[in-house]
This record gives sequence, C-alpha cells and structure tokens, in this order.
Amino acid sequence: MPSRIRLGSLWLLSRIEKGFSAFFTPAWNPFYHLGALTIFFFWVVLVTGIYVFVFFSTSVAGAYPSVEYLTHDQWYLGGVMRSLHRYASDAAIVTIGLHIAKEFIMDRHRGVRWFSWFTGVPLLWMVFPLGITGYWLVWDQLAQYVAVASSELLDVLPIFSEPMARNFLTNASVSDRFFTLMAFLHLLGLPIFLLFGIWFHLLRISRPKVNPPPGLAIGTLAALTVLALVKPAISMGPADLGHEPVRLGFDWFYLLAYPLLDRGSPALVWAVLLGSSTLISLAPWLPPLRRKPAAVVSLPNCNGCGRCVADCPYNAVSLQPRTDGLAYEAEAVVTPDLCTACGICAGACPTSTPLRRKSELVPGIDLPGLPIRTLRDWTLAAAVQLASDTRARVLVYACASGVNLTALRNNGAAVVELRCIAQLPPAFIDFVISRRHADGVLLLGCRQNDCHFRLGVQWTDERLAGKRDPYLRGRVPRERVATCWGGQVTRAEIMHAIEAFRTRLGKLGPYQRESPAGGES
Ligand code: HEM
Ligand code: SF4
Ligand code: SF4
Repeated sequence: MPSRIRLGSLWLLSRIEKGFSAFFTPAWNPFYHLGALTIFFFWVVLVTGIYVFVFFSTSVAGAYPSVEYLTHDQWYLGGVMRSLHRYASDAAIVTIGLHIAKEFIMDRHRGVRWFSWFTGVPLLWMVFPLGITGYWLVWDQLAQYVAVASSELLDVLPIFSEPMARNFLTNASVSDRFFTLMAFLHLLGLPIFLLFGIWFHLLRISRPKVNPPPGLAIGTLAALTVLALVKPAISMGPADLGHEPVRLGFDWFYLLAYPLLDRGSPALVWAVLLGSSTLISLAPWLPPLRRKPAAVVSLPNCNGCGRCVADCPYNAVSLQPRTDGLAYEAEAVVTPDLCTACGICAGACPTSTPLRRKSELVPGIDLPGLPIRTLRDWTLAAAVQLASDTRARVLVYACASGVNLTALRNNGAAVVELRCIAQLPPAFIDFVISRRHADGVLLLGCRQNDCHFRLGVQWTDERLAGKRDPYLRGRVPRERVATCWGGQVTRAEIMHAIEAFRTRLGKLGPYQRESPAGGES
C-alpha cells in the first residue's frame, strides 16, 4: 500500500479506536479483540444452534413449521435463541471484516506473518457457506431464492452429474435426502472444518487471544439479546417453487454476492469470488516485506533458562538438548522462518545487561540488525544529548513499530529506538537511572492490548511490575519510570506525555542512590 494511504488509514484507524477506547475503556475496546470476538460469536452460534436444532425438523415439509413454532409459540426462549443465532452470525461477519482490514492496515500480514493471513482466506470460504446453508434450512421464500441462485452457481462447476437446479423445479422435486445433506453441511461438516481451520490459522502464534475479556463478552451478549427481543429474527412466507423466488428481507452479511448473480452470470460471480480471494491471498507479497535478519543464539552466553522461549510471540525459539558440552541441559534454538525480528527474546535474556563490561555484552540471544550492544551505545549517546538539558532529563525508549519516531526526534527528545518496547531489557532502566544518565526513563509503545508484535506491551508491564522475568529491580525508584502506551498518537500528545513526566521528575530533584550495591539484574 502506498505509504500515504497507509499513514492515512492508520491515522483514521487510531482515531476510531481512540473513540472506542473512550467509551469501552482500552481493556474492553472491541478493536483490540476482533479475532477473539469472532470466536466468541461462533460459541454463541454453536450453543444457540444446538437449542434450535433440538426443535428443528430436517424434512422439507417439517422445516418451516418447526422454525415458525420456535419463533412465535416459544418466542421467549426459542425465538430469542433463533435471533441470537442469526445476529451472532452477522456480528461474526462484521468482526471478520474489521479483523482483515485492521491486520492489513497495521501491516501485520507480511514477512513471516504471511501464514496467519494466508490461512485466514480459507476460513472465509467456510464461514460464508455456513451462513448460506443456514438460510437455506429455514425453507422460506428467502431460502427458496438462495437455493435456486446457489444451484445456478454450482451447476457451472463440474461437480454434479445431474444439474442441481433440477431439485428446485417444483415443490415435489425437493427431496428430504437433499435437505438432510444441507443440514449435515450446516450442522456438522462446515463447523468441523471451521474449527480445524481456526486451529491452523493460529498455529504459528504463541498464546493467541481466543477469548475476549469477560466484560466485553457479557456486554456483547447482552446487546445481542436486547436486539433479539426488540427485533426478533423472523421468516418470510413458506417456500413455494410454483412461484418466482423473492429476495425481500435480504441478508447483506452473508448473501452479498447474490445480487451480482441477478445482474450478471454465474461465471461472473465465480470470477469475482475467486479473483478477490486470490488477490487477498497474495497481499502479503504485494509487495513482499524486506525481512530483517532473524534472532541468533550465542551458545557460550546461553544457559538454557527458557525465558526467550516463554516470551517469543511467534513460537520462533525452542529449547533443545545441549550440543556444545557446557554443563547446561538445554540451549535456545531459533527457527529463522518464524522469526519477526521483534527482539523481545533479547529483552528477556538474563545476559542482556548493560551493566556488564562492553566487551562482554553479547547476550544469549540477540538481533543482528539491532543488537543489545547498539542499544547501549545509543543509550549513552542519548545521555550525552541530555547532558546540556537544564531541566529534568527524560530518556525515551520508543518502539519503532508503534510510535511516530520522526515527530519525537523533530521535537528534540532524546530517543532510543527499539524494534518492540519489550526488546528493552529492564536492566537498561536500572543502568540509566543508577548511573545518572538521565533523571527518568519514559517507555513509549503501541496501545495496550494492541502491540504490533502482540505481546510486547504486556511483557513490559509485567517486567516493570516484578511479575515476569527479567523484572525491574526493586532498587529502581518507580516514580522515575513512566510508560505511555499511546501507539500512533499525535506529536502533541507524545510531547505532552514527555512534558508531564519531566514536570514530575523536576519535583523529585536529582536521583540519590539509596544503596551503593550495583550488579546485574
Ligand atoms: C473465522 C475467522 C477468523 C478468526 C476466528 C480469526 C481469529 C484470529 C485470532 C484469534 C488471532 C490471534 C490474535 C492475537 O492473539 O494476536 C488472529 C490473528 C490473525 N488473523 Fe485471523 N481470524 C479469522 C479470519 C482471518 C482472516 C480472513 C484473515 C485475513 C485474510 C486473518 C488474518 C489474521 C492475521 C494476519 C493474524 C496474525 C496477526 C499477527 O501476526 O499478529 N484472520 N486471527
Ligand atoms: S526476535 Fe521476536 S520473533 Fe524472533 S525469536 Fe526473538 S522474540 Fe521470537
Ligand atoms: S533467555 Fe537467553 S539464556 Fe535463556 S535460553 Fe534464551 S538465549 Fe539462552
């Protein structure tokens, strides 16, 4: 995507998300849980679907009356279940659409991340038929329209020996056997494929967010229930193949491609569907991402502690039996094809500490393109830049993937750039403050719950809070450390965060070391 369009889309997305954060709070912002919300909607669809199925008759003659019974005679439960089933399915289409748009705009689909994107496309080919076969089963006039139009579509493919449209010439030609096949596809075949597809989609992601926060889930379910009560899902009149099918009460979520069939031909619809799927599938290579060199392990410095394995968001590091004869059981091994070069592993390694002598500063795992040693050099250069500052000195560590660094630098901030904020080993903060290279350290990164590399902000928060290794040592005064998880906020907002922190530091005065003891974290 040309960079202007990308920046414009990013700006728009961040404004929309900001609005949602103001309403829902950042923790419950649906934009940060789109994949998980989609899975939640599928659970709602599953549970309500089981209820509906108990009362559903899978025969041509029985289907319509059984759904009518649920909708009207049992409106208080069966009707609500049916409506929830319909509305949760529609909501899933909305969240899937936003999920695709967001991953694309945030450029999270190229490089080694192609896999999640590419495996997302077949999911679309399962979700849409799932919804379409659902409409079919109601066997009302909309179902008739869907059945006739779908058979026109399928008949141009060399799948069936007999044209499928023959099944829908007269009311008598619709067989129970055919109806049972649809029910099987909708109730069992497609859901099983979808489940397997989602598992595959998440295969290369470590700790995927598959559940939305409970508050967001409950709130969403409550909103759907209110909708189900206020505007219950209803059927149209019963299907009657003696008359032209109508498409009143059309569903624009699942049946989007059908109007194209009315205006064009089945071949045109297939061309559009296959063409757009191919284009979406190829998006990770249009153009391909210039990949940064993967993390590398330095065996003499690796003790096999496994922290890098625990923190890598992409399952790119594993522990394997030791090969160099050192007295440790395991060693870290990187799979370069899975590595996004985020540097989070280097931030997790206990040997990544600037408090070591410079000649020793080769951690167990590091990024060749931006090694820990360079971070230390940049930190010292930033400290020199700050030395002439007469006000409280703020050293900023910022994630290049989530923060507008140019804006920061243009405003004279002393910034050290990182691939991800969790590339920063907490020992650096200790180093800066205890050696008085600055009066305080500000960490700038992506929005909370929306880290470009998925887990960087969460790991950083946990390391600062002492809940995750390597943690920030207790001796570091917490009032001298600040975080701003603002993402692509405007220059004014970042500068405001820096100024506010500087004012707070000014009131604290210069740092006085409480204990002379130094050492490594
Ligand atoms: C049934 C529909 C889908 C579901 C339930 C789903 C769910 C998810 C979930 C839960 C994640 C992990 C989020 C995280 O923990 O960071 C994810 C990641 C991702 N999804 Fe989907 N997804 C679906 C469809 C799609 C489609 C159609 C595409 C694109 C064509 C797509 C592209 C991606 C990408 C690129 C990521 C990885 C982002 C990263 O590397 O950080 N997804 N999806
Ligand atoms: S650089 Fe990132 S993706 Fe690569 S191994 Fe380290 S933590 Fe994993
Ligand atoms: S965190 Fe460092 S020392 Fe621990 S296993 Fe990984 S590379 Fe080795």
